[in-house]
Order: sequence, then structure tokens, then C-alpha cells
Amino acid sequence: MLIHLICAARPNFMKVAPLYHALKEEAWAEPVIVHTGQHYDVNMSDSFFRDLRLPEPHIHLGVGSGTHAEQTGRVMMAYEKVLMEKQPDLVIVVGDVNSTVACTLAATKVHYSTLSQPNGLKEPTKYNRPLVAHLEAGLRSFDRTMPEEINRLVTDALADMLWTPSPDGDENLLREGVAAEKICRVGNIMIDSLEMLRGSIESQTAFKELNLTPGEYGVVTLHRPSNVDSPGNLGRLCRSLTGICREVPLVFPIHPRTRKNLEHFGLLSTVSESNGLHLVEPLNYIRFMNLVFNCRLAITDSGGIQEETSYLGIPCLTLRENTERPITITQGTNQLCKVDDLEDKVAEILNGSRPKAKKIELWDGKTAQRIVKILKNRR
Ligand code: UD1
Repeated sequence: MLIHLICAARPNFMKVAPLYHALKEEAWAEPVIVHTGQHYDVNMSDSFFRDLRLPEPHIHLGVGSGTHAEQTGRVMMAYEKVLMEKQPDLVIVVGDVNSTVACTLAATKVHYSTLSQPNGLKEPTKYNRPLVAHLEAGLRSFDRTMPEEINRLVTDALADMLWTPSPDGDENLLREGVAAEKICRVGNIMIDSLEMLRGSIESQTAFKELNLTPGEYGVVTLHRPSNVDSPGNLGRLCRSLTGICREVPLVFPIHPRTRKNLEHFGLLSTVSESNGLHLVEPLNYIRFMNLVFNCRLAITDSGGIQEETSYLGIPCLTLRENTERPITITQGTNQLCKVDDLEDKVAEILNGSRPKAKKIELWDGKTAQRIVKILKNRR
């Protein structure tokens, strides 16, 4: 079974890696990594491949940055050519980035003219196209101003198999009218990567190199357009962070979008000159996770960090009005937070006791194994 694993941007690589490694063990599976090139900097892409022990992408589309339509269109055009040439049996897309929806659109509309019976899978041969599976299906923020929400809705409407991380994902899909037999709860694949690399993460000393003491610093990441694309919002956030770092040192690996905007809005010197606020380049997976494992709290707008901190029992303040991962609030350690409340919320965490990590069902490092079993049964 020829299986394309689509990856594009930083949070995708940890979702594809466990599946690639698990499929590689199976004689019937031929996993092929397709990198669309949405993220291309060494520290946004290559270093993740190294950490996650992935080979060089077998196919690289090299699309780069652009507006949403440009990026989505370029991925569709480039991937359609690959689909026609390679004719995979199955395309697995992950997460909610532009490349996820672009590859789903290309794969569900392609028509293999020369092949009447795609090999490997029992169905649906009637379409003469690959099956499409979405890993991390069903998540909804119910906020259509987020580009990712549009990507999730379209991807889930089109994919043939919907692999969800949590019960809310199943409920959202059923409510949208998705047939129950398409939905399968497989768990959280990010936790597979975390567990796969736990030894390397724990033996790293990234925090020491920054003169940080375990349990006595915070990790900050920010890249969502709602937080970083307007000078007003980014300025308020910077002022809040410079206040907080007087109470607790913060390490802030800066995403390229955020750095560009800090420079553009003339805010970079405000943050870089603050004692206690350590600005660093984006870090590779193992070093970054080492910082997270040892921190007192996280301040973020990332989806993955809400999940990883919940799994690890680390308080997380999410600078958003909503989350597509509500289980991290109801069962994890995550809280939504407004910028104006950030300093107070940080003080509350610093004065409180550390929460206990709670077990979330199927967040156990075995998601890739469950997916392999599903695919085996469909052969
Ligand atoms: C994308 C995803 C977002 C995900 C995030 C993780 C979409 C709509 N957004 O957002 O869901 O959470 O990745 O990082 O798919 N840039 C570089 N080097 C790179 C990549 C980007 O310099 O390797 C710069 C470019 O100037 C680019 C900007 O960052 O214009 C934004 O990159 P882009 O891929 O468009 O979106 P992200 O903000 O990274």
C-alpha cells in the first residue's frame, strides 16, 4: 500500500514521525514523506526531521510562503502532479495548516485515468482516487476568523477517514452530519513523539545553557495572526511580558512571523532589552521540549503546547478567545487568558501549587499503533 504522509509546517512533523516509523515496520506498507515546503527554515523544518529521526522528505514540493490563496493553490498544483504520477493508495493529512486542506482537495478531486483498481485497499475503488485520512480530525474552535478553522472544516468534509484525538472531535463531526463509520478515535499523536523521544528530551540541558533553574521560569510562544499581526495587540503583549519577567524569567523562542512583526512595528528592542526575557531563535523539538519539561508555566497561542503541557501537568495560559482543544481545559492544565489578565494569572500560578498531570484517554504514545491496526483491517 503506497501511503503519502503529508507534512508542511512545524507542528506537522511531530504528527507524521510516529506514523512513519510505525508504518516502516509493516511489510505491506510503503510510507512516503511528502513535504510541501510551507516551512523551510532549517530551524523550522530540517532540525525537526533530524530530531524525529525522519529521512529527508522523499518528495519536496518547495512551495514556500505566500498569501493563503497563493500557498494553498501552489500546494494543490504541485501535489496534483505528484498524485497523477505516483498514484498513492492512501494520503494521510495531519493538523490544520494550509497544506492540509490543499492536499485533501487535490487528492479527493484527482482521477487516476490509467488505473481502474488502486491497489492495496478494498475501497473506495469506485472513485479511482486515493483514500484520504485526516489525523487530528474533528477539532473546532467555532471561530471562522482563524484560517485553521476553515482548513479543518473543509478537510473534514472531504476526507474518507477521520481520526480524532478526543471525544469532542467525534461529537463535532457527528453534529456536522459526518457518517459515524468514517470516524475513529485514535488518540493524540503528538504524545507518541513526546514519548518516543522522552529519553533525549530529559537528557538535554537547554535550560542550563540559558542559566534557568528548573521549575523557576516560563516558556513563551506566540505566532497566531490575532496576537502578532497588529501593532496594538503585539505591543500590549510585549508590555505584559516585560512586566511578568520581573517576577519570573521567561524564555521566548521567536517564530519568524512574530520576529518580522516585532521588527516592523518597532517593538523588538522593547523585548530584547528586558532583563529576564530571553529571546531565542526557534528551537529544535528536543531542546524546546526540554525547556517545556522543566518550566513552571507556559504562555502560548500554539495548539500543540496546550496539549503537551496538559499531558505533563504544567500550567498553561493560552492567549486566545477560544480553543479547538477544549479537553485541555476540562481535563488538562490549560486556561484561556486575555492579554489584560495575563500578569494576574501568572501571579496566581506562581503563588499556587503545581497541578497534577491527569491522564487523558488515548493520550498514551500508542496512537500510531492504533492507526496501523485500522489500516491493516482495511486491506
Ligand atoms: C502556520 C500555520 C499555523 C501553524 C503554524 C506553526 C496556516 C494557515 N498556518 O502558520 O496553523 O500553527 O504554521 O508555525 O497554515 N516563515 C519563515 N520561515 C519559515 C516559515 C515561515 O521565515 O520556515 C515566515 C514567512 O515570512 C511567512 C511567515 O513566516 O510569511 C508565516 O508563515 P506561514 O507558513 O504562512 O504561517 P505560520 O504563521 O507559520
